[in-house]
Amino acid sequence: MSVHSSVDGSGAPARRPVTIHDLARHKADGDRFIMVTAADASAAALLDDSGVPIILVGDSLAMVALGYDSTIPITLDEMLHHTRAVSRGARHALVVGDLPFGSYQDGPSQALASATRMLKEAHANAVKLEGGGPMIEVTAHLVRAGIPVMSHLGLTPQSMNQTGGFRVQARERADADRLVEDAVALAEAGAFAIVLECVPNEVGRRVTDAVDVPTIGIGAGPHTDAQVLVWHDMLGLTTGRLPRFVKQYADLRAEIGSAIKTFAAEVADGEYPAAEHTYGD
Ligand code: KIV
Repeated sequence: MSVHSSVDGSGAPARRPVTIHDLARHKADGDRFIMVTAADASAAALLDDSGVPIILVGDSLAMVALGYDSTIPITLDEMLHHTRAVSRGARHALVVGDLPFGSYQDGPSQALASATRMLKEAHANAVKLEGGGPMIEVTAHLVRAGIPVMSHLGLTPQSMNQTGGFRVQARERADADRLVEDAVALAEAGAFAIVLECVPNEVGRRVTDAVDVPTIGIGAGPHTDAQVLVWHDMLGLTTGRLPRFVKQYADLRAEIGSAIKTFAAEVADGEYPAAEHTYGD
């Protein structure tokens, strides 16, 4: 996969910002890619420097960064604040701002007002919203207004009070068929990508085959066009039990804990600050 499009004075390929059209091309070319969440500018800059094509300012930040019990309480203003920070840190990646619970469920007009704020005030390139059914018309309305929409089907944490918590979705044939129909309708309404969360592998495969836009899986098996993980989960910063689908690629909690203990011990021993850390007498 390449996000390089031109050559600068040094002869090295220059990166240009990722667009939704690049993502469509990756699906057509069979290039698998990743999306990672971020909640602040430093995380965004690290992801951007690593060449990650999409940064999602997911409302999971309510739980992993802000200490809420679920994603329900986070407000649009809080999401705008974090998305603004991520947009400042990302120079090339496509920044997707999650619309939080209560900011779009009232219908197309409310969704358009919230999504417009996400683009104008927080400089996101696109928005994400959960669900099919009534969200198909909402998606069409936003896309007609020029706002790229990423859909989210399967486990939709904003509906956890209705769906009964964090559990695998669409195990029954009828539920899987309905999910595939929703995905096709959302893609026809103009969604540029579809997140699939916590569904059996076969459902991930069926949706991926049924739509032209990239599917981005999280607990949706190996057949989706892309995979997404939450920054705090994949880097070992989350406390408590992790869902089965998370792979921890680093253990930063242990690294940070050990760094803090070393700092405390060196201060207690008078080892820090040493001469090179001071401005002299
Ligand atoms: O909020 C989030 O982080 C998400 C991902 C799990 C896709 O929606």
